[in-house]
Amino acid sequence: MSPSPVSESAHTFAIPDFICPLCQSPLQLDAKSWTCDASQQASLMADGKTPAKLSHHSFDVARQGYVNLLPVQQKKSKAPGDSPESIAARQRFLAAGHYAPLQTLIGEQLARLAIEESVEETVESKTGQCWADIGSGEGYYTLAMREALVKQGIDSLIAVDISKPAVVTLAKASKAAGVLWQQATVQAAASIPCPIYPLVASAAHLPLAPGSLTGISTIFSPILPEVFAQMLQPGGWLVIAKPDVGHLASVREALFDSVREHDSDKFLTQLEPYFTQHAVLSCNQELQLNQADLTDLLTMTPYAYRAQPAKRDALLTSANENEFKTEAKFVVYILRKR
Ligand SMILES: C[S@@+](CC[C@H](N)C(=O)[O-])C[C@H]1O[C@@H](n2cnc3c(N)ncnc32)[C@H](O)[C@@H]1O
Ligand SMILES: [Zn+2]
Repeated sequence: MSPSPVSESAHTFAIPDFICPLCQSPLQLDAKSWTCDASQQASLMADGKTPAKLSHHSFDVARQGYVNLLPVQQKKSKAPGDSPESIAARQRFLAAGHYAPLQTLIGEQLARLAIEESVEETVESKTGQCWADIGSGEGYYTLAMREALVKQGIDSLIAVDISKPAVVTLAKASKAAGVLWQQATVQAAASIPCPIYPLVASAAHLPLAPGSLTGISTIFSPILPEVFAQMLQPGGWLVIAKPDVGHLASVREALFDSVREHDSDKFLTQLEPYFTQHAVLSCNQELQLNQADLTDLLTMTPYAYRAQPAKRDALLTSANENEFKTEAKFVVYILRKR
């Protein structure tokens, strides 16, 4: 059995403030299951009495080391989030290094944030400093971000995705890298700085205590201004990566009769009441894609479903003869909670 980082080691390293997705009571972590203490249920009793028997909610730790904190009532479909096919395609495409400059840029920016100065002193607290990567997918950016967050003294990294196959892949990758929360042991020598906690959960219902996060990243993933503001400490960081205007323009021109531009900054208005802008960075990358790369790219983006099959086939055939040239254009926003 994997050692629990919790039972004996709470004094040696921090554990995030996880809460039960059903009753919002604190969750107690164990290597095999996470269980709530149901204290919020008692306080919710209308007559003020404590029920004779409080039901504890328990969430199994999966074999791969992730925890499913997505109750069925928060699921809008049977298998929400990205499908196994699109995850496998994205994993191959990213592993080939096509978006490596963005991965590097995000890591560099995280390593530069003035986290110690900006966030309330939480070192004495049991939870320490905690970062959440929302819509983490299979963890290409998450694992790279962890390297920067370790240098920043962040104690834990929570990877949240609504897609179970994505979280399974991320948990396996974290384990292979030796940074999965379950691998953190009570021996100081073997303890892992900033372990990763992979969770199946919804960005709209994060199973975390309000105000418990030092930072949130959302890389091509949902942006929920109110939820993020509620979860972050004052001065906490929000890092957003999005496609920029002109992203993969030649791919879209080949697939569609009329090309609709990415609307890059509508969400900024919604963030404005809660966040101030700290920095905006661009990342542009020329891509030369062979047919296999292009097939993966189309499978991992929404273009695959929207394009006419004939245009899609013609594009892939052309890439068989010559590598297809396009440009990836990204924009990274760094914001701070007011
Ligand atoms: C475009 S992918 C980005 C994945 C990863 N950040 C990356 O860039 O490689 C968006 C991810 O958000 C997840 N997602 C979509 N809606 C979500 C929600 N409501 N809560 C949590 N994750 C969600 C999807 O399952 C998918 O893995
Ligand atoms: Zn509960």
